Amino acid sequence: MSTILEINNLKKTYNSGDRHLTVLEGINITLQAGDTCAIVGPSGSGKTTLLGLCAGLDRASSGSVVLNGVQLDNLSEDARAQVRNQYVGFIFQNFQLIPTLTALENVMVPLELRGERNVQGQAMELLARVGLAERHDHYPTQLSGGEQQRVSLARAFSNRPTILFADEPTGNLDEETGEKVEKLLFELNREAGTTLVLVTHDLELAEKTQRIIRIKGGHVVSDTKTAESVH
Ligand SMILES: Nc1ncnc2c1ncn2[C@@H]1O[C@H](COP(=O)(O)OP(=O)(O)O)[C@@H](O)[C@H]1O
Ligand SMILES: [Mg+2]
Repeated sequence: MSTILEINNLKKTYNSGDRHLTVLEGINITLQAGDTCAIVGPSGSGKTTLLGLCAGLDRASSGSVVLNGVQLDNLSEDARAQVRNQYVGFIFQNFQLIPTLTALENVMVPLELRGERNVQGQAMELLARVGLAERHDHYPTQLSGGEQQRVSLARAFSNRPTILFADEPTGNLDEETGEKVEKLLFELNREAGTTLVLVTHDLELAEKTQRIIRIKGGHVVSDTKTAESVH
């Protein structure tokens, strides 16, 4: 087993003017390659902030984040972007597709950034995998929420990420659509052997991962294995 993510004594304070808001403190989490875990907690407890720090989207106030052996804390913005592009996939609650690009073009972006060959062919294959081959030339506004999230799944996996962060990926979807997206997420994840960190309100969904980390008021209040952990 190799360690894919190591967070030590992480603290995050947002500063605006002379107001300082500490949203995370004393966070320690270690994940091994291939692990799946859920982060749960009340709204405003710092889940999105934590994911952003783990994924190198933002920088901690103190403590350290080591992602796939790379310590993120002292890296420049550009260097962190490079690490993200190399190792990280991200799925957002509100999809965050680029509105001026078609479904196919959205999936092509990370592949192009990596300088891959046969970008279009690879992107089409991924769109087919999420059941949207025939919608490849549609823009995000022409797609339903569930379809947009399937495009963002294809985009996230196009990177062949070592670790995938999903922030309430079914939070904006109705139950039935959410379940389809969930199923696809777990399937793609299993096929690729990706490490998965999932933020969710949905305890049923959380139970499908191997481990549930609860945060409250910026602290980890429990960290337990689920029935899935024995598989
Ligand atoms: N960029 C920011 N500047 C200032 N405060 C922020 C910022 N982002 C989040 N917060 C605050 O940090 C706290 C945690 O937010 P967040 O990580 O989004 O929680 P969650 O995802 O668990 O709902 C909230 O009180 C939120 O208002
Ligand atoms: Mg959030």
